Amino acid sequence: MILCPLAEIADPGARGPFPLTVDGRPEQVFVVRMNGRVAAFVDRCPHARAPLEMAPDQFLDLSCSEILCSMHGARFDPASGRCLLGPCKGRSLQRIEVAIRDGMVVAVAGG
Ligand code: FES
Repeated sequence: MILCPLAEIADPGARGPFPLTVDGRPEQVFVVRMNGRVAAFVDRCPHARAPLEMAPDQFLDLSCSEILCSMHGARFDPASGRCLLGPCKGRSLQRIEVAIRDGMVVAVAGG
């Protein structure tokens, strides 16, 4: 399923949320682009299961180096989704497999 055009994501930057069925459940997902690499995650913090963003496309910290949960400040590695700091340290966002096809970010798993 197409999530968004790659050209619409700054590097570094993020876009979302986008609706996607994941493991048979309706979820929201977001896409992160950093250092030329693209990753996508379910928009659900492993701490309190809340969405990470306060506004659309606002998934990164001020320096655009880490994913930031706006609820209680957990920080996540933008490539792996692993929590680096905060109340869910050591746990991870659920990663969604994506590919770039014809300039679009496409979810390979889920649907
Ligand atoms: S819900 Fe994300 S840090 Fe608490």
